[in-house]
Amino acid sequence: MSKNMTRRAFITALSTGAAAAATANVVRPIESVTALASKHKKLALFGGTPVAPDKQWPKWPYVDEKIVAKVADTVRTGKWCRKDVKGGNVDTFEQAYAELLGARGCVCTGSGTQALHTVVEALGIGPGDEVITSPYTDMGTIASILSARALPVLADIDKYSFQIDPEDVERKITRHTKAIMPIHIMGQACELDKILDIARRHNLKVIEDACQAHLAEYRGQKCGTIGDAGCFSFQSSKVLACGEGGGIVSNNPKLLEDCYTVQNHGTDRLGRSVTIGPKYRMNELEAAILLGHLELALEQNEKRNENARYLYKKFEGFEPLVPQKLYEGGEHGSFYLYTWSFRDEHWDGISREAFLKAVAAEGIKLSPYIKNGLHKEPWTDNILGRREYRAMYTPARLEQFKDELYLPGVDWVCDHMVMLWAGGPLLAGKKDMDDLVNAIMKVYENREQLRGLEI
Ligand SMILES: Cc1ncc(COP(=O)(O)O)c(C=O)c1O
Repeated sequence: MSKNMTRRAFITALSTGAAAAATANVVRPIESVTALASKHKKLALFGGTPVAPDKQWPKWPYVDEKIVAKVADTVRTGKWCRKDVKGGNVDTFEQAYAELLGARGCVCTGSGTQALHTVVEALGIGPGDEVITSPYTDMGTIASILSARALPVLADIDKYSFQIDPEDVERKITRHTKAIMPIHIMGQACELDKILDIARRHNLKVIEDACQAHLAEYRGQKCGTIGDAGCFSFQSSKVLACGEGGGIVSNNPKLLEDCYTVQNHGTDRLGRSVTIGPKYRMNELEAAILLGHLELALEQNEKRNENARYLYKKFEGFEPLVPQKLYEGGEHGSFYLYTWSFRDEHWDGISREAFLKAVAAEGIKLSPYIKNGLHKEPWTDNILGRREYRAMYTPARLEQFKDELYLPGVDWVCDHMVMLWAGGPLLAGKKDMDDLVNAIMKVYENREQLRGLEI
């Protein structure tokens, strides 16, 4: 919407047939919003009536009696370790999850970080090697590379999809690069075709960090099943959760066996201790929760997608707050997080923080996501001073690593991101989605009231 055109004028223009002249840059008419906007001029932050007082979203993590019963049954068996029982919960979940995703197999671990680290080790990546990933992620991604004493090389991200930028990935390849670890951030697919093409041309492995992307799709395949291996997190906030847990999927039987061995302290399925490995096994209680939830998780994924599509439609053309850009073939996501970028140029000097405060007062709690990219955390200096890194990488390489930490895309996204923890909220009804839209629109339309607000 142009700065000189009010929302009301725009809606009038639409109804008088000027729609064709209006470009995609204009606010879409949302009747309920218009009604509310005139009803509640005064922002709740200053004593006005909130759009959604005491908004209660569906609770997350999800719990029901089926899950409780499955855990209780498992507790009673006294068989809590996967090694105590053949065909137990962990075995059953691994098989079911692999089938659900269309992967050859699955190996569970105690966390997503452990899953990623297991794959790095199983691929033989270690000191002296480099893995390219993005710093716009959970520290677990980078920790999985550091734990193998390999070098995490950081690529920038796209400002609007928040996903790793394939061109920057290619620029960062050296003769020591062994793998790319792209992240499907927010639970939606990154531009995997381009990553796979780069990997093919440079003979690199692709380890998909699908820790946020359960049941998300990319061009008809499930995220996590497309690269050499894909890793999932089942930590509490995730859309399939058991407190702490992780899973590796792959279509490569040898890699799956190697992963099993690595996470089983280097001991293979025949009980031979054959290599180096940590003990990262998932236990039967964790798998009981996952099994209790799995069937419903599918249904919940559909519901989240339905609500996400509804929100995308509502925000179509609304320039002040633009939902995460999705790549072609990546529209069916996980929607672990529903995110927008806050476009300063449309807020007349009102800050993201003022907006967040005002929208929270309307009853809708949104927040920034990662405060600073992980390229700004002290680990980057820590490794430069470490004996093993100084032994395995030349001073020039470590210098270059430091120089490459200029990542303006990540910095911009950190400063402009607005998000909703979507696990529970996107299971809510249409009225709740309208409340969310209406609260945002009310704050936008009455943003002048926020001028001078001290944050
Ligand atoms: C993108 C991403 N990668 C890795 C991880 C690490 O998973 P976990 O917390 O299960 O170790 C997470 C968890 O939040 C994540 O979101």
